[in-house]
Amino acid sequence: MTIRPTSTETIADAARYLRQGGLVAFPTETVYGLGVDATNAMAVAALYAAKGRPVFNPLIIHVPRPDLAWVFGVPTPVARALAAAFWPGPLTLVLRKQPDCWLADLATAGLDTVAIRVPAHRTALQILEQAGCPIAAPSANRSGRVSPTTADHVAADFGDALEFIVDGGATPVGVESTIVDATGEKAVLLRAGAVTRAQIERVLGAAVVVAAETTHDETKPASPGRLASHYAPRAAVRLEAQAVQDGEALLAFGPPLTHTGAMQTLSLRGDLVEAAANLFAMLRALDTIGAQSIAVMPIPDIGLGEAINDRLRRAAAPRPTKR
Ligand code: TXA
Ligand code: MG
Repeated sequence: MTIRPTSTETIADAARYLRQGGLVAFPTETVYGLGVDATNAMAVAALYAAKGRPVFNPLIIHVPRPDLAWVFGVPTPVARALAAAFWPGPLTLVLRKQPDCWLADLATAGLDTVAIRVPAHRTALQILEQAGCPIAAPSANRSGRVSPTTADHVAADFGDALEFIVDGGATPVGVESTIVDATGEKAVLLRAGAVTRAQIERVLGAAVVVAAETTHDETKPASPGRLASHYAPRAAVRLEAQAVQDGEALLAFGPPLTHTGAMQTLSLRGDLVEAAANLFAMLRALDTIGAQSIAVMPIPDIGLGEAINDRLRRAAAPRPTKR
C-alpha cells in the first residue's frame, strides 16, 4: 500500500490506474472515497470484495461536470435546479438511468436508477477529469466501519489490501453527501448529509419529502421501497440446484451441471469476483431469452459469495408484485 501526497504526478498515476481497472482511494469534500471505473464490472466487483459488503448496495457515481451526469441519468426539473445550486458539492441525485446507460449493472446493484454527484474537491475533480470515465466510489472504509476523513483512516482500514491512496489531507466537510431522489416532481430525501433540508427547500421553493425509511447502515439492505425497485428477474429462481430440471435454465458456478438448454456461467473457474461482475447481466440475459425458471448452482457463502447469495435469495423469494 502506498499513501501518495497530492501532486500532478500522483493525480495522473491515479487516473491511469483507475482507467486500468484499479482501486484508488481519494479525498472528496465529504469523506474519502474508494473509486473504480463504474463501467468496468470486474473492477466494481473487486471494490465490493475489498469493502467486504455482505450485500450489493448501489454505489454513487462521481463525474467532474453536471453535463456528464445527464449522460447516465435523466435530468428532471428538480434535478437541474438542485445541480445548478449545489454542484460541485456534497449532494447526490438519484435519477432514472438513461436508456443507453453503459455503467456496469453491478455499480447500480441492478436498479433502473443511478445515484450521481459532482464533488467539490480540487484533487477529486482532477482525478475524475483525467480518468475520463465515471467513477463509482463508496466511502473508503471497510463495511461496518465509520467513514474515513483522512488518508490514515483509509490505510488503517485496508492495510496492504489497497494499493493506492491519494492523500489530500483531512476532508473539509466530514459527513457524507445528502442523497435526494430527483426522479419525480417532488424531491425525496433518502439520506441526510452535508446539504441541509432547509437549503434544498429554499432552492426548490417547495417542501422536501423525507423517505419513510432511510438507513445509514450499509451492511443492511436499504428501505423496502428501494428493495422493491431492485431488479428481480421475471423467471422463478431455484437455489442450490444439484441437477437441472426439465424446462429450467441454468446459472452455473464452476463447471456446469449437465444441461442442454439455456445457460449462463457466472465463473467457470469458480472465482467469486468474476461471478459478482457477471451476476446482474446474466440474470438479465436469461430473462431476455424468456427463461421461465432458473436453477442456480451452489455458491460458497464466503467473501463476495455472501453478497451474491444475498442477491440470489432476494431473487428467489416470493414476489408480491410481478413485473
Ligand atoms: O459523500 C459521499 O456521498 C461519499 C463520497 C465518497 O462521495 N460516498 C458515499 O458512498 O457515502 P456510500 O457507498 O457510502 O453510500 C452510497 C449510498 C448507498 O448506500 C445507497 O444508500 C445510496 O447511496 N444509493 C446509491 N445508488 C442509489 C440509488 N439508485 N437509489 C437510492 N439510493 C442509492
Ligand atoms: Mg459509506
